[in-house]
Amino acid sequence: MKFFKHYLMMMILFAFMQGGYSQIAGTAHDFSTESWSPTTNRGCGVCHTTHQSISMISAPLWNHETTVVAGYTLYNSPTFDGTSTITDPGASSRLCLSCHDGTVALENFSGITNGTNFIDHSARIGGVAGNDLSTDHPISFDYTDALATSDGGLFPPTTTNSGLGSSIDNDMLFASRMECASCHDVHNRFGVMHLLKMSNANSELCLTCHNK
Ligand code: HEC
Ligand code: HEC
Ligand code: HEC
Ligand code: HEC
Repeated sequence: MKFFKHYLMMMILFAFMQGGYSQIAGTAHDFSTESWSPTTNRGCGVCHTTHQSISMISAPLWNHETTVVAGYTLYNSPTFDGTSTITDPGASSRLCLSCHDGTVALENFSGITNGTNFIDHSARIGGVAGNDLSTDHPISFDYTDALATSDGGLFPPTTTNSGLGSSIDNDMLFASRMECASCHDVHNRFGVMHLLKMSNANSELCLTCHNK
C-alpha cells in the first residue's frame, strides 16, 4: 500500500513535469549548469531580459548579442518555388543563428562581448564560416496557398490542420513565412526530441506540409 502511494505520487509528479511545468529544464536550451554561463541570470537570461533589451523586430525582450553575418548563401534548387521571396534570415531565425551560426559566443549576453565559447559541431548551422544556409531546409520565404498551388506537392497552409490545434499558417508560420521555429520550439513546449514541434517518426513532421 505504501509502495502504491509512493508510485502514485511519482506518477502525479511526472504528469506535472510533462504537462509543461518545466519544459526547458533538462533540454539543450537549459543553460543553468553550463560552465560558460555566469553564475547569475543564466536560465531565461541568456536569451531574454526584463529591462534594456536589444531592440529588434520579433525579438521578445532579447538579451543575447545577435549574429553579425550580413549576407548568407541562401537555399536554391531547380525545383524550389520560393526563390522570389527568400531573403536573409528574418524574424526569429536571426535569433537562433545568433548562437547557431557559430559567429557569436554563447556567453555574449547582458552586454558581455568577449566570450570564447562557440557552437562548433553538428549543432552549428551554416557551415564552417557560419554563413552558408544553402545545405539546410529553406527558411525565410513565403509559404502561401498560392505557393502550394504552384508547387503541387504542398498542403495549402491556411486551410490545412497542423495537428497542433489550428492551421499550418497559424501554428507554424511567422507572417506566412517559414523560419527555424516553423519546425522547432525553442522552449520545448511539445516535449519532443530535438526541440521539434512534433515527432518526426515516420516523417510525420515533413508530411504535415509536404503532400508526398
Ligand atoms: C535559447 C534561447 C531562449 C531561452 C533560454 C528562453 N527563450 Fe523565450 N524565446 C526565445 C525565442 C527565440 C523567442 C521568439 C519566439 C519563438 O521563436 O518561439 C522566445 C519567445 C518568448 C516569449 C514570447 C512568446 C511566447 O512564447 O510566449 C516569452 C514570454 C518567453 N520567450 C519567455 C521565456 C522564459 C520565461 C524563459 C525561461 C524559462 C525563456 N523564454 C527562455 C528564446 C529563448
Ligand atoms: C543563447 C544561444 C542559443 C540560442 C539563441 C538558440 N540556441 Fe539552440 N542551442 C544552443 C546550444 C548551446 C545548444 C546545444 C548545442 C550542443 O552542444 O549540442 C542548442 C541546441 C539546439 C538544438 C538541438 C537540440 C537537441 O536536443 O538535439 C536545436 C534543435 C536548437 N538548439 C534550435 C534552436 C532554435 C530553433 C532557436 C531559435 C528559435 C535556437 N536554438 C536558439 C544555443 C542557442
Ligand atoms: C523543415 C523543418 C526544420 C527547419 C525549418 C529547421 N529545422 Fe532544425 N531540425 C529539424 C529536424 C527534423 C531535426 C532533427 C533531425 C536532424 O538532425 O536532421 C533538426 C535538428 C536541428 C539541430 C540539431 C542538429 C544536431 O545534429 O545537433 C539544430 C541545432 C537545429 N535543427 C537548428 C535549426 C536552426 C537554427 C534552424 C533555422 C536556421 C532550423 N533548425 C530549421 C527540422 C528543421
Ligand atoms: C512547416 C512546413 C514544412 C515542414 C514541416 C517541412 N517542410 Fe520542407 N518545405 C516546405 C516548403 C513550403 C518548401 C518549399 C517548397 C518549394 O517551393 O519547392 C519546402 C522545401 C523542401 C525541400 C526542397 C524542395 C526543392 O524543390 O528544392 C525539401 C527536400 C524538403 N522541404 C524536405 C522536407 C523534409 C525532409 C521535412 C521533414 C524533416 C520537411 N521538408 C518539413 C515546408 C515544410
